[in-house]
Amino acid sequence: MAAYAAPAAVAEDIAAYLATHRTKSLLRFITCGSVDDGKSTLIGRLLYDSRAVFADQLDALAVDSRAHGTQGQALDFALLVDGLAAEREQGITIDVAYRFFATDKRKFIVADTPGHEQYTRNMVTAASTADLAVVLVDARAGVLVQTRRHSWLAHLLGVRHVVLAVNKIDLVDFDRARFDEIVADYSAFASQIGIGAVTAIPISGLGGDNITTASPRTPWYAGPTLIEHLETVAVDDADAGKPFRMSVQLVSRPTSDFRGFAGLIDAGTVRPGDAVRVLPSGRTTTVARIVTMDGDLAEAQAGQSVTLTLADEVDCSRGCVIAAAASPPKTAAQFEATLVWMAETPLLPGRGYDLKLGTQVATATVQAPKYQVNVNTGEQLAAKTLDMNAIGVATLALDRPLIFEPYAASRTLGGFILIDRETRATVAAGMLNFALRRAQNVHWQAADIDRTSHARLKGQRPAVLWFTGLSGAGKSTIANAVETRLHGLGRHSFLLDGDNVRHGLNRDLGFTDADRVENIRRVGEVAKLMTDAGLIVITAFISPFRAERDMVRGMMAEGEFIEIHVDTPLAEAERRDVKGLYAKARAGKLANFTGIDSPYEAPEAPELRIDTTALDVDAAADLVVEYLLARG
Ligand code: ADX
Repeated sequence: MAAYAAPAAVAEDIAAYLATHRTKSLLRFITCGSVDDGKSTLIGRLLYDSRAVFADQLDALAVDSRAHGTQGQALDFALLVDGLAAEREQGITIDVAYRFFATDKRKFIVADTPGHEQYTRNMVTAASTADLAVVLVDARAGVLVQTRRHSWLAHLLGVRHVVLAVNKIDLVDFDRARFDEIVADYSAFASQIGIGAVTAIPISGLGGDNITTASPRTPWYAGPTLIEHLETVAVDDADAGKPFRMSVQLVSRPTSDFRGFAGLIDAGTVRPGDAVRVLPSGRTTTVARIVTMDGDLAEAQAGQSVTLTLADEVDCSRGCVIAAAASPPKTAAQFEATLVWMAETPLLPGRGYDLKLGTQVATATVQAPKYQVNVNTGEQLAAKTLDMNAIGVATLALDRPLIFEPYAASRTLGGFILIDRETRATVAAGMLNFALRRAQNVHWQAADIDRTSHARLKGQRPAVLWFTGLSGAGKSTIANAVETRLHGLGRHSFLLDGDNVRHGLNRDLGFTDADRVENIRRVGEVAKLMTDAGLIVITAFISPFRAERDMVRGMMAEGEFIEIHVDTPLAEAERRDVKGLYAKARAGKLANFTGIDSPYEAPEAPELRIDTTALDVDAAADLVVEYLLARG
């Protein structure tokens, strides 16, 4: 997935390595499986046998093996791969380690992914660029939950080839029946989830059996060694045969008369003179030059980083896609997508997340999942949200159209990540399945009497006075006093109050985080309609989350959203306990109560803050009305 950019140092290593073996084809693969299935040992063995281990690393390894290694082993290959000392001490691999090696026939990039369930993120990162997955199974343990889970993820992320490496075959006395049993077990699962052909190889990472040379100890096995298979498996370079697409990463203007568009070619081939279409504008032009550090090219294809210059001045910037004019990718703003949830905080349907698809960015809201997948069986389960490591299918709505392709057709134009807007953490990786056409068939109907006309007739400037604060803070009381004053001043207003709205429009919602998100989303939409009608809207909701308050602010015209924090300390609200709810919550009779066992995120920069321990209701209401009058 393009969204997972390698750090600069890694990118340089990769570039240097690729240059040395320029003429050889490249296979990117991952190793996965359960903890202790022997991944690190196997990778160490591959590196060692292909002489990719540098002399100084070997020295260090010999020392380390004496200190930490498996008893009786001269060289412990796992130590070679588990690079960090801290990881060694913990005895687990905690991040994706990329290794490079080459044989006479081919060059390889292998990503070692950790086996612990909480590291789904790393597995997803690695699998999103891999051609092949080596699924390791301990011959004694057989197919485990993690084996299934990782196979499922690899398949989901578009890994096309699977090798089932039945490892530690020496520990089951090279027993053919045991090998056959595991292969049958795995194959049944693989075909169930749609994995096509699986190549099964009995190996011993420690002993070297069937890794680079055929083992005399498995005479019953006539297939290729692991390396032979990796060297000969057909690498899919189908991307080069597809219509041309390049996501623009950067507009380069070193001099005033040069304007080039730099990016990595996602698919297809390009030559000077080719007709191209620039999206989203849709303008067509032709490619003038293909510029690289080593001079102009007559042709470039998928996987190459180039700078294109175009024959005409067209509107094109980072996030745009330059594509073959005759078959450009489509754009859409609603999708069905598969999500791998990676954060500890679960998915909140209705909340806005930042979406990154290659160089494109948008705000996405996810609806409640259609279903969640049981990765062990492929079964579809009902789900209201997605917890960490869950995989589900849901509808995604964006605030602007994306240039896309289904993930099955293009990993770069179909794979995306979701980012929490508050913490900036990556919370999910996703794959676009298909666009939903329903949005295209619903058009915005322009009315002759617009919001300006409505407001003019009422002789006022619309606004939303958004009161937020703890339960019992005094929001409704102050809001009511404000509305009474506005009414007296001849203003047209409407008060939306939490308790009241929950009796009607939002009768179906409770107090889980997800329901509160939806509560505020709906109230925001209603408030928006009311400002369009020219009203001064007053709302009184706890609205505990910054993200949703910011979302509503974003929906309103500039300056129309006035956030008012009714700042009553929890102790004071609890002391007053007007509705007796705090007592109930403390007694354990009311769950998810704000301030007790459900969070309240205070506004960071509200337009107004009312300290109810210093101001009484009248003074507070005056303050708000004065603010409104001053604003005009
Ligand atoms: S919000 O969090 O979704 O914005 P809202 O303002 O609509 O909440 O409703 C809050 C009111 O519902 C409170 O003033 C209180 O009277 C009542 N209530 C009932 N249960 C809870 C609860 N678990 N947490 C907070 N308020 C609750």
